[in-house]
Amino acid sequence: MTLTRLKNKDIIFFIVVIFILIAIGSIWIIQSFGSKEDTYFLIGVSQPNLQEPWRIVMNKEIQESANEYEHIRIIFTDAATSSHKQEKDIQKLIDYGVDLLIVSMNDTERLTPIVADIYKKIPVIVLDRDVIGYDYTLFIGLDNYSIGRKAGNYLRRMRGKQTLNVVEIKGITDSPPVRDRSNGFKQAIKDNSDINIVASIEAHWQPDKAHDKFVELIKESPNIDVVYAHSDAMAFGAYKGLKDKHQEITFIGMDGLQGTNGGLELIRKGILDSTYTCPTGGKEAIRYAVSILNKDKGIPKKIILRSHEITADNLNTYIQEQQSRTHKKDPITLGFAQVGSESSWRLANTESIKQAAQEANIHLIFKNVDNRLSDKEKQKKQIQYMEEFIEQKVDVIAFSPIVEEGWEKILIKAKKAKIPVLLSDREVNVDDSLWTSYMGSDFVEEGRRAARWLMDYTKTTEGILNIVELQGTYGSAPAIGRKEGFEEVIKYHKNYNLLYSEIGSFNYADGKATMKRILESTNEKIHVVYAHNDDMAFGAIEAIEEYGLVAGKDIIVISVDATKQAFKYMVIGKLNCAVECNPLLGPQMMKAVKDLMAGNELPIRIITEEDVYTQENAKYTISSRKY
Ligand code: AHR
Repeated sequence: MTLTRLKNKDIIFFIVVIFILIAIGSIWIIQSFGSKEDTYFLIGVSQPNLQEPWRIVMNKEIQESANEYEHIRIIFTDAATSSHKQEKDIQKLIDYGVDLLIVSMNDTERLTPIVADIYKKIPVIVLDRDVIGYDYTLFIGLDNYSIGRKAGNYLRRMRGKQTLNVVEIKGITDSPPVRDRSNGFKQAIKDNSDINIVASIEAHWQPDKAHDKFVELIKESPNIDVVYAHSDAMAFGAYKGLKDKHQEITFIGMDGLQGTNGGLELIRKGILDSTYTCPTGGKEAIRYAVSILNKDKGIPKKIILRSHEITADNLNTYIQEQQSRTHKKDPITLGFAQVGSESSWRLANTESIKQAAQEANIHLIFKNVDNRLSDKEKQKKQIQYMEEFIEQKVDVIAFSPIVEEGWEKILIKAKKAKIPVLLSDREVNVDDSLWTSYMGSDFVEEGRRAARWLMDYTKTTEGILNIVELQGTYGSAPAIGRKEGFEEVIKYHKNYNLLYSEIGSFNYADGKATMKRILESTNEKIHVVYAHNDDMAFGAIEAIEEYGLVAGKDIIVISVDATKQAFKYMVIGKLNCAVECNPLLGPQMMKAVKDLMAGNELPIRIITEEDVYTQENAKYTISSRKY
């Protein structure tokens, strides 16, 4: 039958059949491959290079974690140490339509504006090398400064009485992790005049370069006692360059990877004396990417991963601990020892923890101390509650430590009972192996933000500005951090004069009484009040008004917390600026508890997202303020 002989009816039938076949085919194609929007998320990973073994492990972890989720697909790029190529790689990933970008930068300064621009369109996780500023969704990385310091402290402990000549083998000079690992190490050894860095090698993270340069160096100066390398691979490269393998040299490396020639094997073989684990963050990046794409509550701003010091003495224990992580299904019991109800911030914090535990189906035993007790008595009570939690064999303990000092004994007890301890919103000053994770704010940064705002606000003001600082609870982490950050910024500017810095204990009554006393006793004009929290600022505002001055005009008032009440004060002009300290820590604490009980190692620090509010922007945000 030819087409010309077909009747109209047949042609219509033929066309209909073809359409049906095409439709069935398209449905099959869509079902087989999935339409992007409905079935999967595409994540782009931009690496600065893949020469470092550490980065290869990072990609492997990213891929393996992504494989655990059916709806995640990954595209990797490698910039081969070229920032120009990395810019192009990122653009290519955006053109492919990635839903989220994970980026580790080759050159922080050059790539920061590019990342900031991408962040306007899609979520961005910055992995391992931080950007300048806060234009990203989440940063995951290491505290390289404290890792360097740990290495320096190890050397101080191990050195005996002799003088030590140290060679430092660096990655790429001037990149942030190298600078921090170097400065942290120098800080730790600075008071030991018998530990001297006699040479420094730049090996670009490459074991071969470390080898060749070390061979040259040791010919000229054979009296080397220590090699401090910023990676195990470079330390091993240098070791291979040693002619006499029996020469007494202490090798210190970093990364602590598993596998052939990884740091752990090098420790076992006695080639390295110590290494510092540097988790790549690959697993965490995928876990958090999924939470971000699912629009979960309580996504933090920064996650700092934990590093362990590994030597021949603790190698086996470390490996066993990694292999036998707790796996506990519901019901999970969390014991929480709250610090009191000193402020409106604290009330919101308590509520957030209770509500989140309920939503996450976590059994919460919540204990709070009586607010009328002294700070010393409050600490005693918190310790007593923690002892009770240990007796009750809860799965996890969390607490908000009233002060930084005095927790060692109880934390040792919890460790012996194998109960992990989370620090909620305040840190402690004890060895970090005694607690599992800190979650809350970066208090030093809050202090800096308050000072930066003040400097900007008064940039055209001439003459000396006298400042009154109202500190929080004496010896508490937020009081220490907020003071440090504020002073760090103003100290270079002679016209800012910190005239009084008094304790106000984070409460309204003390804030008011302290401010009243200062106003009535001083002969100086007060220009600024910087209160470590809103409640003390409200007390100070009342004292200022009772004294006959106008708060917000005659005296600039800055506070920390940014509760709803602070917004009200800003809208009516009595408070000039409120630096945010987010009390809604419940969701991220419950996520951490669940991650921990699922056998994951928690980051050492989980830092919340925060902002700065002023009279100008307060009126737009007040209605959405939840606490
Ligand atoms: O630890 C957080 C601080 O404790 C809050 O800023 C303050 O208001 C609270 O009492």
